[in-house]
Amino acid sequence: MNDDKKIIIFDTTLRDGEQSPGASMNQAEKLRIATQLEALGVDVIEAGFPAASQGDYDAVKAIAKTLKKTQIAALCRATKHDILRGWDAIKEAVNPRIHTFIATSELHMKYKLQMEPDQVLSQAIKSVKLAASLTDNVEFSAEDGSRSDPNFLCQVFEAVIDAGATTINLPDTVGYAIPEEFEQLVKYVIKNTPNIDKAILSVHCHNDLGLATANTLAAIQSGAGQVEVTINGIGERAGNTSLEEIVMSLNTRPNFFSQTTGIDTTRIYPTSRLVSMITGILIQPNRAIVGANAFAHEAGIHQDGVLKNPMTYEIMKPETVGITKNNLVLGKHSGRHALNAHIKTIGYELSDDELNIVFKKFKNLADKKKSIQDEDIEALINEGVLRSSEVFSLEYIHVLSGNTVFPTASIQLYINGRPVQGATEGSGPIDAVYNIISKLTDTKSELLRFTISALTEGTDAQGEVTVRLKEDGITALGKGTDPDIITAAALAYINGLNRLEYLKSNPPREQPLL
Ligand code: KIV
Ligand code: ZN
Repeated sequence: MNDDKKIIIFDTTLRDGEQSPGASMNQAEKLRIATQLEALGVDVIEAGFPAASQGDYDAVKAIAKTLKKTQIAALCRATKHDILRGWDAIKEAVNPRIHTFIATSELHMKYKLQMEPDQVLSQAIKSVKLAASLTDNVEFSAEDGSRSDPNFLCQVFEAVIDAGATTINLPDTVGYAIPEEFEQLVKYVIKNTPNIDKAILSVHCHNDLGLATANTLAAIQSGAGQVEVTINGIGERAGNTSLEEIVMSLNTRPNFFSQTTGIDTTRIYPTSRLVSMITGILIQPNRAIVGANAFAHEAGIHQDGVLKNPMTYEIMKPETVGITKNNLVLGKHSGRHALNAHIKTIGYELSDDELNIVFKKFKNLADKKKSIQDEDIEALINEGVLRSSEVFSLEYIHVLSGNTVFPTASIQLYINGRPVQGATEGSGPIDAVYNIISKLTDTKSELLRFTISALTEGTDAQGEVTVRLKEDGITALGKGTDPDIITAAALAYINGLNRLEYLKSNPPREQPLL
């Protein structure tokens, strides 16, 4: 059993989260998220899978060097090559952790690994011994653990703890478990792994049946001491257990759960928005805790109750998760100082140079829009700061459209700092814009999805466009925001192309196979 009241929060947004289709991030973006996760108070950040690609290795190394207190984990298959590569990437971290894994279910061993159980056992032991010779912070995961023979699972766990593992992780890799069953499995492992007191038992659940949070909470109730989670629940397929759901369940129901976490809950919402902005993965409005409707009361009877006492229909306060109501905000006459102070309240720390960029954009926007809200400011930060060093950028765009003309777009872009311009027609203004951009950039991506929505209320709201592009089998998301929706569409397309460019030289990591 885990007797410690504090549950260890292991965040894998940058590793399993990045395995969401189209969610690949570049190094600067990963560093920005890692810094935010440290401020949020997560205990361990799984920064990536260094052996999977050079981009992954470089990003993990940069995060390991930069962060000041959080443990940094590198995922490694149970091979000498992966473990040495992973260690090299994290060894400069304040507290580096090697996380090595091998599958233990019959299905995976027989068909994927084509190995006998005793071969898997000895490979697991060998790998953990190697990892433990490099650091005393070693995690071992039994991939597809929830579908493994419980006796074999305990045999492997006992052996890897003897070999030096300090955390053993039980993943529900394919999101197959049911809470009562998972609870029994966790109890079984605790009871039948004789040296379990020498390690922390962790769980890692996927959400294929929508049960990841329920399974993780059941495991906490049964004695798990670490939970593996992602922001907004992003991750492979239907995603992982979401950090915000676990933390707020423990926080909102202290009489039911006696465990706590080290998370600063007021940073949950800003972190969720940051991850959504960087990955381009939108948050569904009815999503628990962080969705736009999570604290919105539509029915009159509810509104009445909330006005009399918010606790009638609100089990949590929006402020507890960092949703500020002072959306008043800033206008044309607000100065740089006021903007910076507000940026801090919504969870961002910008350098002087970054603030200068955002302030310039803010003034431009304030000329067009009367009241500037938090979402507008976040979008300015996204456009101005989070997208540094890109191959393609937009200088200007002019579009002619209407029901009596041929829609035509003329554009000037920069390609690696070199100006190029051109004009062309299309079936509509966006088609015209996308035609000329793909001609100028000499790219042939396919537009798989295009969505547009208003960032805030009001007819002067900024338009927010998200696109999904595909080229040579690689998909990427792009996002753009601007009061002019055609410009927003152009920015989203250019952002998607920049992401594709990045992915061409840093291919997304492949499915882990041994
Ligand atoms: O889902 C899974 O099994 C994993 C492991 C690598 C921990 O992501
Ligand atoms: Zn996983």
